[in-house]
Amino acid sequence: MSAAREFLLSVLPSQDIEKYDGEGKRIPSVTLTFAQSLDGKIAGSHGRQLTLSGPDSMLMTHWMRAMHDAIVVGIGTAHNDDPQLNVRLIPEADKLHIKSPRPVVLDAYLRLRTDCKLLKNYRDGKGQQPWVFCASDPESASTERLARKSALEAAGAVVYEIPCVSGLLSILGLLRKLHECDIQSVMVEGGASVINTFMKQASQPRGPGEPPVVDTLIVTVAPTIVGDDGLGYTVGVSGDKLSVSDHLVLLGMPTESLYQIPKFTHTRTAMMGRDTIIAGKFI
Ligand SMILES: NC(=O)c1ccc[n+]([C@@H]2O[C@H](COP(=O)([O-])OP(=O)(O)OC[C@H]3O[C@@H](n4cnc5c(N)ncnc54)[C@H](OP(=O)(O)O)[C@@H]3O)[C@@H](O)[C@H]2O)c1
Repeated sequence: MSAAREFLLSVLPSQDIEKYDGEGKRIPSVTLTFAQSLDGKIAGSHGRQLTLSGPDSMLMTHWMRAMHDAIVVGIGTAHNDDPQLNVRLIPEADKLHIKSPRPVVLDAYLRLRTDCKLLKNYRDGKGQQPWVFCASDPESASTERLARKSALEAAGAVVYEIPCVSGLLSILGLLRKLHECDIQSVMVEGGASVINTFMKQASQPRGPGEPPVVDTLIVTVAPTIVGDDGLGYTVGVSGDKLSVSDHLVLLGMPTESLYQIPKFTHTRTAMMGRDTIIAGKFI
């Protein structure tokens, strides 16, 4: 078995575990993953895409894709990077029983381009049909938006509507819907805003016995320094640019919950080529 595969099997949760949210609704397991530089950046200046992962950790990412039912990115990443999100790098001999994950784009206002690689790959038989999640807010049901929805559907996307929380698509709404659609495991691949939202969700206070929304964090650290112009992410709510009072209004949360950071425990670190892969669990 390849080192990357063995590493992932040792840090990812078993797919046999049934996961429920705080309201008793089934949700998939969630792996949050990204590559960062030594100075904590995930992209270059103005969000310029950077290839931070070396070949070995990139192969690990493709194995990770193969081990999840769906892969989630935000519309910022879909626009900026035009990613494919399919499994390409695994050796042919290992590919027999492997399929690419379902691409899922968080796109409240249906801005995804109809000529993006995700849709093209689906039409060319090189990836699963992309699912685009948009806001169910009736105010956004303009003629223009309906036209964008029809255009995306004609290009091959399936569009789902879910509620928003504080102007962003509800993560619990997304996960519940994905589970209803038979998705048992989700890999979240970025970008910065989506990482922030999932980190926030992982830091929310929970009831007794309620599992964290994000189960596993797998971070590739590349031996590179990007500099202050690079794009970073924030852990928990406190790193945001909004003031505490803004958060109180937007989130309706008690003050003490605003500065919680996700509770995280390290499970394993491995070297893959020149990169360090750090894995842990939210608790
Ligand atoms: N190093 C890595 O591992 C890695 C991986 C992926 C991406 N990246 C980099 O990340 C950058 C993109 O990051 P980004 O922050 O600009 O965009 P992003 O996180 O990919 O997408 C953010 C957008 O998604 C939509 N969205 C809807 N619901 C959301 C929710 N609940 N939480 C967060 N976003 C939600 C919002 O747009 P609407 O309101 O219009 O829906 C939001 O502006 C690119 O530069 C890319 O290269 C790096």
